[in-house]
Amino acid sequence: MQKITFTLNGHAVKALVEPQWTLLELLRDHLELTGTKEGCGVGECGACTVIIDGKAVNACLFPVLETEGAEVLTIEGLMGPDGSLHPLQRAFINQGAVQCGFCSPGMILSAKALLDENPHPTEDEIRTALAGNFCRCTGYTQIIQAVQSLGTYAEKEVAVMPREE
Ligand code: FES
Ligand code: FES
Repeated sequence: MQKITFTLNGHAVKALVEPQWTLLELLRDHLELTGTKEGCGVGECGACTVIIDGKAVNACLFPVLETEGAEVLTIEGLMGPDGSLHPLQRAFINQGAVQCGFCSPGMILSAKALLDENPHPTEDEIRTALAGNFCRCTGYTQIIQAVQSLGTYAEKEVAVMPREE
């Protein structure tokens, strides 16, 4: 076993890991953070997406030792201090972008990584950012609309701000 230290959802974490583990194994099997899903296990479905140092990453392919010193965000870390949902989670619910929900944590984290870099993405940019995340249920339209709706809300907020004289 080897010791690693990293930041997980804003908290400093020390963990003893086997060098051959993936980050997904550590999260799900040892830290019991099962919001990160395991679909294919080989980097093709995006269900295991987490954010590492600002980038959306497939945790099923990410060697756990490379987590040393990194900042990791999982779907559990999006919750507000009072237990409230993140605006992206609310948008997915409001737009009907969740059916079985298996893809949702990965979709939401891929979308968050995009919006953190580019708060007003075009539809093409959203489709590109989510291209590695598969959904068997929704047909993607509502998912794209959910991500777009955040940009729309932001624009509305800008539009109603009083003009400076
Ligand atoms: S479980 Fe990681 S990409 Fe499918
Ligand atoms: S909501 Fe079921 S896989 Fe996407």
